[in-house]
Amino acid sequence: MKPLLNELRLGVNIDHVATIRNARGGIHPDPVRAALMAADAGADGITAHLREDRRHISDDDIARLRSNVALPLNLEMAATEEMLAIALRHIPNAVCLVPEKRQELTTEGGLNIYRNKKYLHDFIQALKAAGTRVSLFIDPSGKQIEAAAEIGADIVELHTGRYCEVVLGADRKEEARELKRLVEGATFAAGFGLEVHAGHGLDFETVKPVAAIPELVELNIGHFLIGEAIFIGMEAVVTDMRKIMHEVRLGVNAEPTP
Ligand code: PXP
Repeated sequence: MKPLLNELRLGVNIDHVATIRNARGGIHPDPVRAALMAADAGADGITAHLREDRRHISDDDIARLRSNVALPLNLEMAATEEMLAIALRHIPNAVCLVPEKRQELTTEGGLNIYRNKKYLHDFIQALKAAGTRVSLFIDPSGKQIEAAAEIGADIVELHTGRYCEVVLGADRKEEARELKRLVEGATFAAGFGLEVHAGHGLDFETVKPVAAIPELVELNIGHFLIGEAIFIGMEAVVTDMRKIMHEVRLGVNAEPTP
């Protein structure tokens, strides 16, 4: 595929390969092998979430991803002292700070930066001083975006979970409203000079309108890709997702007709 001026990167989140491994204990299936296969199939980066309860990715997985996979590593983590020490040990290419509650099944909402500006500012500075880019996972709210820029984040990752959820329902108005929030959030964030990413809940269909948002430079996708890989294989699912994103982007980059 010919690279595009305004290409959209795909970060493959391999957490749920580890979820299956941990269901039995032992070493199979190996998330590092999944990361290597995703890399071969054209992924632009690997994302892994080291949760405080280690329910999927382990400390050893992070060390092995760092030493065996050449793609940039985006480490998702809570803004805790324990996680900061781990990030400073591995210096991933990017850290994405996420809110974390032990009882939740997945990252249920965005970070409340607005309420924790001072703490997060210092946390971000420590990571940036070590050479890691810092991303904040937030809902597409103007207030949170403004706060992210103010405290020195490099990137905001807009939470697409709500949008993907409403697509499953029948309320098309609500769907349009949620998509509009993402579109406006991306424009607003880019206006502050923030790099804009998005992710959560995306699949072959929901990715299309999201990939069409021109300010986005990266999507992070996990659960759907790993689930679909069971049926069509890791290589095919990454290739197909890249292809859809690329085709949507071709439309975004097309010269407007006079
Ligand atoms: N981005 C962030 C910050 C996340 O926490 C997650 C879930 O771990 C994702 C993207 C990927 O979401 P999903 O697994 O639903 O594709």
